[in-house]
Amino acid sequence: MTMQEKVKHLLDLRSQARLGGGQKRIDKQHALGKLTARERIFALLDEGSFEEFDMFVTHRCTNFGLEKNTPLSDGVVTGYGTIDGRLVYVFSQDFTVFGGSLSETFAAKICKIMDQAMKVGAPVIGINDSGGARIQEGVNSLAGYSEIFQRNILASGVIPQISAIFGPCAGGAVYSPALTDFIMMSKDTSYMFLTGPKVVKTVTNEDVTTEELGGASVHATKSGVAHFVAETEEEGLMMLRKLISYLPSNNMEEPPILPTNDSINRLEDHLNSIIPENPNKPYDAKDVIMSIVDDNEFLEVQGSYAPNIVIGFARFDGMPVGLVANQPKYLAGVLDINASRKAARFVRFCDAFNIPIVSLVDVPGFLPGTAQEYGGIILHGAKLLYAYGEATVPKVTVVLRKAYGGAYCVMGSKHLRGDINYAWPTAEIAVMGAKGAVEVLMNKDVAQIEGAEAKAEFLNEKENEYRDKFANPFIAAKYGYIDDIIEPRNTRFRVIRALQSLRNKRLENPAKKHDNLPL
Ligand code: HXC
Repeated sequence: MTMQEKVKHLLDLRSQARLGGGQKRIDKQHALGKLTARERIFALLDEGSFEEFDMFVTHRCTNFGLEKNTPLSDGVVTGYGTIDGRLVYVFSQDFTVFGGSLSETFAAKICKIMDQAMKVGAPVIGINDSGGARIQEGVNSLAGYSEIFQRNILASGVIPQISAIFGPCAGGAVYSPALTDFIMMSKDTSYMFLTGPKVVKTVTNEDVTTEELGGASVHATKSGVAHFVAETEEEGLMMLRKLISYLPSNNMEEPPILPTNDSINRLEDHLNSIIPENPNKPYDAKDVIMSIVDDNEFLEVQGSYAPNIVIGFARFDGMPVGLVANQPKYLAGVLDINASRKAARFVRFCDAFNIPIVSLVDVPGFLPGTAQEYGGIILHGAKLLYAYGEATVPKVTVVLRKAYGGAYCVMGSKHLRGDINYAWPTAEIAVMGAKGAVEVLMNKDVAQIEGAEAKAEFLNEKENEYRDKFANPFIAAKYGYIDDIIEPRNTRFRVIRALQSLRNKRLENPAKKHDNLPL
């Protein structure tokens, strides 16, 4: 062959690889509102930045006549590129080739880019759209999955790992995304479950559809498996770019600072009146977040799951932070099992990747009751406590209103190495609310009073007394547990100054093999 013929041969093979499982299957993918594996990568990465690996890999399986069908790339597109000029590694499963099912060589391609990403310290984004283990390959496919799991585990806390689910993700295949830091699902076109509706029917006799069992809305609201839901794949891929913008490339880097025109000294007068007169009335914690962060931009994580706590990324003077805020609008912002697990994982992610944590506290306590106790709220609440206590990143906490009991301790208190702790004048830092406290303390006295009216009057008087004495931030400030009581409208610049002062914070936990977080 001449040189020109060789180049032509190469280009022909490339075109063949780019066709995946063929035009008919590509058309079917498009008809379902789905992009192809390569289209997804092109939409995700900066234009022209994608460098593909292993286009010429084919499977080695000879079972069931598979040796007669050896498509180039073997059902997964892998390589690297950039997002806003920053290096990321990607893999994208190609449903048009054997339903995106995973073979030994398919897994090896993914492992190769994971190893490379670890070597150079860059995030891995995996796009999942697969019928699971390639049935013809048997145990070789299971071995391949396990190799990926092992890499997910070792990469955890070293490089950010992000999964997008844009089609089926079933059986043990769900565990690779589950081991990564964030899962995004596309609405109506993706699902995740361990066993499908048919097996569910056989084993538990439940009738359930694919969507009801493992669709995006189920995982966004009920299980908490999905951190983000996208209306379309295009929207999802843009969201992933945004997410990456808040994250360092690896655990040895600081998160990227983005210059902003939003003034550090912006005052928000409306915050001085956002807390209702009635302590039992709610307000929206997201109003406070939006008012104080740069450019009113907040990327909420798990927004529809355990909405009694709000978590997500934002910037203060260009510096990324993880925000954790109790949400009085839902269940009065109480800490329950789901809220504790949700916030604990987020705080641990931020700590692993050097992202400061800003906590906005308004929490009446942990949720009482048998459902919570039987579900293990003791252990789950301890997770959040543990996460805050072990975190060594800068921690800035502002108590807006209630900080009662154990929940006060947990939510970034000074005692769990909170670096700078502020309170609004409306803060109530105490062992419990006035009503509960008076009921416990005055039980015997009340019993001796005759008449319902007299009892109510006495209780009211004692509650007011308790409120005046304990339900304020001044006692905590007197002991130095609160560094300052700040005017609500000044919160933005006080938080920014606090974060600036903590930029060079250095704190290390004792050396150990690993911790024993209460799981
Ligand atoms: C080999 C597969 C495949 C698989 C699909 N295909 N899944 N080939 N191994 N696991 C092939 C089909 O034969 C078909 O080939 C093409 O992919 C598209 O599949 P369709 O069935 O036509 O598509 P659709 O109707 O959209 O259904 C998609 C599906 C279904 C729901 C994913 O294909 C399915 O149920 N597949 C099997 C799923 C499964 O049981 N996987 C194993 C799970 S156990 P042609 O040539 O016709 O286009 C597992 C263990 C992992 O994954 C353990 C890790 C530890």
